[in-house]
Amino acid sequence: VRRSFATSAALQKDINHMTVFGAGLMGAGIVQVAAQNGIKVVMTDVSDKALENGKKIITKSLTRIARKAHPEDEAAQKSLIDKVFENISTSTSPDEAVKSSDLVLEAIVENIKVKQELFSKLDKSAPKDAIFASNTSSLSITDIAQSTEPSRQWIGWHWFNPPPQMKLVEIIKTEKTSEETYRALADLSKRMKKTAVSCKDTPGFIVNRLLVPYMLEAVRMVERGEASAEDVDVAMKLGAGYPMGPFELSDFVGLDTLSHISRGWRDSRVETGEISAEAVKESPLLEQLVKENKLGRKTGEGFRKYD
Ligand code: NAI
Repeated sequence: VRRSFATSAALQKDINHMTVFGAGLMGAGIVQVAAQNGIKVVMTDVSDKALENGKKIITKSLTRIARKAHPEDEAAQKSLIDKVFENISTSTSPDEAVKSSDLVLEAIVENIKVKQELFSKLDKSAPKDAIFASNTSSLSITDIAQSTEPSRQWIGWHWFNPPPQMKLVEIIKTEKTSEETYRALADLSKRMKKTAVSCKDTPGFIVNRLLVPYMLEAVRMVERGEASAEDVDVAMKLGAGYPMGPFELSDFVGLDTLSHISRGWRDSRVETGEISAEAVKESPLLEQLVKENKLGRKTGEGFRKYD
């Protein structure tokens, strides 16, 4: 980590080398945004196949951007894409991938044990002053951070899908987040052209804390026979000005994801008093759709049908 003096004369960490674990939907998207903004980034996953998938996700997104920027100039399109890829390297070796990293971000499966296992290993191979971060949507950063030595700096850095398009990032402060670490992430978010908001380490942070109970209550309205899903969607779009109704949004997010997040909170965050039981009460209709593999857009059917 290179340190420079900011105008406020406060010590500031500059993040120039970042490592991202997970080359899936989120990881690949975050890698792309970093590389587009001149940050050297290592994309890491468990297999070459997974890395290829990540590269495919990035190429597809960049191709769209390049076509828009240079219509009818294929050479310029190619050069734009090549330039972004110059900032990206790939690895399937976790210890190698973090050797000169200022920031290690994970975007792997949403499972606390798997995340802790990864970080406990990386704690030994990453530089002592490298910041560890998680893109988790629903787990506690503080819990994930139990996996490393107490001196390790931690932060939550929560992105939205798809990372290249969505303008927001949430920065989550924990007991292991110094002001210097927070400023480094706020600065990096800005360099990556995102608007950052910050909050404490609470279930769902800001966006999902409000959205998940809202989507669940919409499902329960339909279960109680109070209104149809179609009418609820129309109502929230035209009456509240939301771009998507709660059922459209649930289908977009994935019904399995919605079910997984609410179950996780019921099992571990209600008894701690962090969220009310009422807000995350199980919905039989949601569980039934998940059982039938009607998971939303990705399976062609959820609350609605898709082509
Ligand atoms: P995904 O399933 O598309 O990608 C996960 C990737 O992680 C896979 O390529 C998998 O091979 C890899 N992986 C699994 N274990 C690994 C390990 N030990 N080391 C390296 N790579 C490993 O998942 P997605 O949707 O990208 O989500 C990743 C994380 O981001 C989750 O924690 C999720 O909660 C969070 N998130 C997801 C959002 C979404 O809309 N999908 C939004 C914001 C956060």
